[in-house]
Order: sequence, then structure tokens, then C-alpha cells
Amino acid sequence: MSLFITFEGVEGSGKTTQIQRLKRYLTRKGFLCKVTREPGGTPISEKIRKILLDPDHRDLIPLSELFLYEAARAQHIHEVITPLLKRGVVVLCDRFSDATLAYQGYGRKLDQNLIRKLNRLASRGIKPDLTFLLDCPSDLGLKRALQRNQISKNEKEGRFEKEKIQFHHRVRKGYLTIAKKEPKRVKLIDTRVGEERVFERIRRTVDELLTRSHQSHSRLVL
Ligand code: TMP
Repeated sequence: MSLFITFEGVEGSGKTTQIQRLKRYLTRKGFLCKVTREPGGTPISEKIRKILLDPDHRDLIPLSELFLYEAARAQHIHEVITPLLKRGVVVLCDRFSDATLAYQGYGRKLDQNLIRKLNRLASRGIKPDLTFLLDCPSDLGLKRALQRNQISKNEKEGRFEKEKIQFHHRVRKGYLTIAKKEPKRVKLIDTRVGEERVFERIRRTVDELLTRSHQSHSRLVL
């Protein structure tokens, strides 16, 4: 049974920790599970990631930025996500198309309909079965992300952390709007309750989805 689960959120919302916890949980339950990320996930898409997140690339215009995210996605969908889903693997992806709508649409103020079209094209119509939106106030998340970058000396990926706080407020508002429009797919979780309780929420939601998918799968087999 294949499942496609994505994680979204403002900078420093704790996605990476929760994805690793979910991977351990699902693997213990016997599922084949693969973690991947956007931008990235294939050698070419990881190269595009470097271009996108390099803080020296101050001249990158919003439209080029949008195309690069979509190019990285097209490659990722073709090389990694589609083949894994066909093999029945559970795919956990750190960011996906919602990020483009939130960052390039709400953040950069590019045409949202254009972004929806490009998202559909690049992802070949593949949509997540479930999305976790890990939410926290933008200033709190940004503080955490900057601390993390300093600790890991990850200064090569700081282009977005350098944006003004107003940009991050718009991104958060974008994400919250997406969650409101698609409450069945997008589960909003306030991360201020702490790592343990966030994971409990994720675990319960995934268990419910697995039960439902298993039931409909059994019906098909019968
Ligand atoms: P990460 O730091 O969560 O790995 O994400 C990389 C950065 O790229 C993050 O600042 C969000 C941004 N981003 C976009 O602006 N548009 C997109 O479509 C994606 C996938 C990420």
C-alpha cells in the first residue's frame, strides 16, 4: 500500500525531527518507508537546491526562483517519488507543492493560479494523501532556524532566513489559508505544545489513515 505524506511549515517549525520520528515508527510497524525532501531528493535536484538556498544569490528574481523549484520537483517526481509509490513504499517528503504556493505565491506575491498550474505540471498531478502543517509564530521559528544554522555552520543554506520578517508572516498566512481550504488533507498542528505532543498527534492521524486505507484495500481485494 503506497502513501504519500508531506510535511510543511515556516522556518524552524521542527519538520525534520518529526519526519525522522515518523519514519522510525512506521519502520517498526513493518512498512517500507523512505524520507526525501524538496528542493532536493535526486542528484540534480540537490544541485538546484544549492543554487536556491545560497545566500550569495541575492539577484535571483522571483520568477527564476519559481521555475527552479518546479524544475527540481519535476526531476524528483520522475526519478524518486513516482517509482517509490508504484513499489508500494510510504514516502515522507519534507516540503512539496504547498511550499511553492506559500513561499512564491504568498511570500513573493507571484500569481497563485500560475503556481497551481506549474505545481500540477511538475508533480504530474500527484497529490499528497496527507500533509502535516507544523505551525508556530514566524519570529519564533526564524529564531530557531538561525540558531540551528549557526550550530551546524550551515551558512550555505540561509537565503530565506535573510528575508524580512514581513515575508515570513506572509508565508505563514499562506500556509494557514491552504490548511483552511483543505482541512481533510492538511492537518494543522501548533508546535508550541512541544515535540512529544506534536508527535502523538502525527502518530494518531497516520494510524487512522492506515486503518482507513487498509479497510478500502481489503474491500478491493474481496
Ligand atoms: P528547508 O529549509 O525546509 O529544507 O526548505 C528549503 C527552503 O526552500 C525553505 O526556506 C522553504 C523554501 N521553499 C520554497 O520557497 N518553495 C518551495 O517550493 C520549496 C519546496 C521550498
